Parts: sequence; C-alpha cells; structure tokens
Amino acid sequence: MVVNLDIIRAQLAKLPINEINGPKFYVHMFSTQPDLRNFFKGSENIKPEEVPASARFLRQGQRLLLSMELMIELADKLQLFEPYVREMLDKHKRFKGIDYDLYNAFFDIWYGYLSKVIGLSDQEKKEWEAFKVELFLPAVKKYIGGW
Ligand code: HEM
Repeated sequence: MVVNLDIIRAQLAKLPINEINGPKFYVHMFSTQPDLRNFFKGSENIKPEEVPASARFLRQGQRLLLSMELMIELADKLQLFEPYVREMLDKHKRFKGIDYDLYNAFFDIWYGYLSKVIGLSDQEKKEWEAFKVELFLPAVKKYIGGW
C-alpha cells in the first residue's frame, strides 16, 4: 500500500482552518470519547456543547487542524515530516499516558470528525489509513521516547 497524498490533499482543501471547523473537532472528540477530557486539565467536565464558546478550544481546535494539515503537506518530504512529528510528540510528553496505542486510536476519532464535517469516502479513508500505517505510526514508534 502506498499512500496517495493527492487524494487526502484534495479532501483537506474542503476543510479551512477556522473558528467553526476547529472547535468542531473537540465537540466530536468529547461527545464520542468523554474520558479523553481528562488529558485537558481544567476542562475535565466540559460539555461538548460548551466547546464552541471556549477560548481554549477555539484555538486548540485550529492548532489540531493545522497540525494534521501540515503533516499531510510534509508527508512526501521525510526530512521535514519526521522532525515535525517528533516536535508534536515532544509537545505531548507532559500529558502522561498519550502512548502509541492512543495515537493509533486517535485516527478513528479523526475519521468520525471528517465524516461529519466534510465527508469521508471509502477511497479517502483508505488513503488516511495508508498514511497512518506507512508514515505516521512508524514516525511515532521511532520518536515517542522523546527527551
Ligand atoms: C495526530 C495526533 C495529534 C495531533 C496532530 C495533535 C496536535 C496538537 C497540537 C498542535 C497541540 C498544541 C501543542 C502546543 O503548541 O504546545 C496539541 C495539544 C494538546 N493535545 Fe494533541 N494532537 C494529537 C493527538 C493527541 C491525543 C491522542 C491526545 C489525547 C487525548 C492529545 C491531547 C492534547 C492535549 C491535552 C493538548 C494541550 C491542549 C491544552 O492544554 O489546551 N493530542 N495537540
């Protein structure tokens, strides 16, 4: 399986990084996996419907989208992709318990979000899975130790 990045990039062109799409990610995450709120100290009890009005998640949602989109931009430039993933992993080090399995499981939340917001065809999902298996998880495995 070789990932076809053009298909993912064409899909992401429909997902502008803005104050609507960003927080929607966390609305979706906290609706489907409320336990994950525990990683967001101070927001452990936030209700999904409170997310769009939260300054924290207004910004964090857009950071997450930017980060996902940058990974796809860099995915065919391994000399940039790997250090970028390493940066992302290092920034998460302080949230104890975000491990390899959770980075893997994160993609199911991401697929649910994409389906809701811009749609996710079988072909697009296949390419995302190829990205995850061929590029993302190997980089996670390589660098999750961090500093
Ligand atoms: C591919 C997967 C992921 C990407 C691309 C990503 C991206 C990001 C980015 C860009 C930030 C901002 C970091 C900074 O600038 O310091 C962030 C923060 C954070 N991420 Fe992730 N993340 C991912 C997976 C996860 C997972 C699986 C969790 C666990 C639920 C998680 C929990 C957090 C938390 C708690 C913060 C801090 C937010 C805050 O305190 O307001 N992330 N993430």
